[in-house]
Amino acid sequence: MVAVQDTNAARREALCREKNIPQCYALAEELFEDPEVDAVYIAVPNKFHVPLAVQALEAGKHVILDKPFALSAEEAGRAVEAAKKSGKVLTLGMNQRFNESSQQFRSMVAQGVFGEVYHAKAYWLRRSGIPKLGTWFGSRELAGGGCLYDIGVHVLDLCLYVMGNFEPVSAYGSTYSKFGPRGLGEGSWGKSDHTGLPFEVEDFATGQVRFANGATVSLDVTWARHCELNDKVDVELFGTEAGGSVYGKKIYRHDQALGAHYTLENPRATVSYPHLDRFHNFINHIHGEEELCVTLEQALTVQRILDALAQSSLTGDSVKL
Ligand SMILES: NC(=O)c1ccc[n+]([C@@H]2O[C@H](COP(=O)([O-])OP(=O)(O)OC[C@H]3O[C@@H](n4cnc5c(N)ncnc54)[C@H](O)[C@@H]3O)[C@@H](O)[C@H]2O)c1
Repeated sequence: MVAVQDTNAARREALCREKNIPQCYALAEELFEDPEVDAVYIAVPNKFHVPLAVQALEAGKHVILDKPFALSAEEAGRAVEAAKKSGKVLTLGMNQRFNESSQQFRSMVAQGVFGEVYHAKAYWLRRSGIPKLGTWFGSRELAGGGCLYDIGVHVLDLCLYVMGNFEPVSAYGSTYSKFGPRGLGEGSWGKSDHTGLPFEVEDFATGQVRFANGATVSLDVTWARHCELNDKVDVELFGTEAGGSVYGKKIYRHDQALGAHYTLENPRATVSYPHLDRFHNFINHIHGEEELCVTLEQALTVQRILDALAQSSLTGDSVKL
């Protein structure tokens, strides 16, 4: 790391000191003008993702952007255009794809271990996990959405990646805001200061996505809910030959001859990205040594699904994709 920029002086100075980073900039423009900077990692409130990514690409820098891609698919499209024009690499840092288990399940689905994967359940269910009340996370203008865009994006992206299916045709969803507006459900995520911003986004989202091959995905995401466990997250696969739990690292099968159901734990498979690191993938790809794991087409598709689920909740109808 050669430089860091943050609008908050105390935070950027602390980071520079802690990581021994030589340049500490107050303005993004200064960082983008620095010839020592080849590539940037953008991890700021969602509203600034695309504007900063476009600025960086126009300045000739490669960009790895944190999730969600953008406030909307339309906005994300502007970053895709800027990447095409600049010829620089733009990707999303979808870290859940780089878990060992995620990589192994992707390989096993591709090898046909599960047969036809006709359905999957993707969920991230937190009991009390709103990333701090009164911060940008609850602002529609700054965040674009709530739990759907913040953590729903992770399990939805992972689900499509593992299934190897990025051809959605429709989505139907409902979103709710039942805890945040009452000052309940706060978690411990984030270092942001409370700035008194009102909670305007969803803290529960549920939906179903249909794909061109007839497969479906059901998605359930909570920042807060009444339940037993504080955190429950998985992608469960329904295949014709086997079922699976990606985070549980389990495969479920039925042996017809023995008439028995059995579970395989910790299955192993050769993986595409043994380094298991989004930043290694980004840098190796810049050096022409590795395929990009998160393509822009895939990232746009995930963003379009998120938008469709939110839109469907407003109209009560399913949205064609
Ligand atoms: N991939 C993951 O698992 C993961 C985890 C956490 C956060 N994120 C993403 O990272 C981003 C930041 O989240 P966070 O939890 O670190 O938030 P945060 O509020 O803790 O930190 C945001 C930082 O950005 C700075 N900032 C705000 N506006 C800026 C601007 N215009 N230019 C430069 N700096 C600016 C703030 O001063 C702050 O230091 C979000 O988009 C979030 O979705 C991803």
